[in-house]
Amino acid sequence: MSLRTVLASELSPIKANAWLVAGVAPRPIALASTVNEHGVRNLAPFSFFNAFGSNPPMVAFAPNRRGRDGTVKHTYLNATATGQFVIAAVSHAMVQQMNLASAEYGDGEDEFPKAGLTPLPARFVDAALVAESPFQMECRLHREVELGQGPGSGLMLIGEVLCFHVQEHLMKGDLPNPTAMDHVGRSGGAWYTRASGDALFELGKPMGRPIGFEALPDALKQSRILTGNDLGRLAHAETLPDLGSMTARPGDPGDAEGLERAIQSVLQEGDLPEAWRLVGLRVRL
Ligand SMILES: Cc1cc2nc3c(=O)[nH]c(=O)nc-3n(C[C@H](O)[C@H](O)[C@H](O)COP(=O)(O)O)c2cc1C
Repeated sequence: MSLRTVLASELSPIKANAWLVAGVAPRPIALASTVNEHGVRNLAPFSFFNAFGSNPPMVAFAPNRRGRDGTVKHTYLNATATGQFVIAAVSHAMVQQMNLASAEYGDGEDEFPKAGLTPLPARFVDAALVAESPFQMECRLHREVELGQGPGSGLMLIGEVLCFHVQEHLMKGDLPNPTAMDHVGRSGGAWYTRASGDALFELGKPMGRPIGFEALPDALKQSRILTGNDLGRLAHAETLPDLGSMTARPGDPGDAEGLERAIQSVLQEGDLPEAWRLVGLRVRL
């Protein structure tokens, strides 16, 4: 596989942004609600956003200088003037309204009515909650980090989370249900992703110290059928099973390709003991 390499120093800020958003994806979207010093509301989405610590809980997002002319955005001005903001998560049901809130409205223009989203009073900050959002955080500005000076340069706002809000029906036990949030993420260009249905899958943490790829039999590692994910599942075992003790059963394939396809198929069903039994047969060929 050949690699295309571009030097960041040779890219214009707009091109550098296009490279970043194509590769750093999908990104969660923060719908940032702020007020200016006169209490006028502002709402805009930001996908340069994530969580960075949990003691205390900290999030950061970046209302950067505009790539076009280097001017700063209302969200940045409001959050730094008042020291507070609300971050509202974006679900698929509100994606068009989120997009409307990203339009460049003038100074002091409230994006809530423009986007048709409903402001609700927050508990600790003057910025409004967004009634339609599944999950929200009231934040106090912890620190502002300037990441350069010119057009497109980063202005990162780190906020301490004062409280979380989640729509009650999205709770499962005492936590928000990850499979019910229907989050939307931003990819490169004008592409988005939706975290629901087949797009969601579970991947448990490795238990203890997995044997790792290198401990797998060479015959498997050289397979043209088994993929990195197939081998990765086997490499999660805590100890290499005794392959010599695996017994054949009627109907087992007798050739390498047949066995590898059978291993792949039982791995996809999550039947690890059966996969290892077939691996035992494969390595004895
Ligand atoms: C999904 C999405 C994600 C965005 N992410 C960012 C971002 O991370 N940083 C940024 O500066 N602008 C981002 N924008 C553009 C801002 O939303 C846009 O500049 C907006 O007009 C800023 O509004 P304001 O001046 O009211 O703060 C994004 C737009 C969309 C639609």
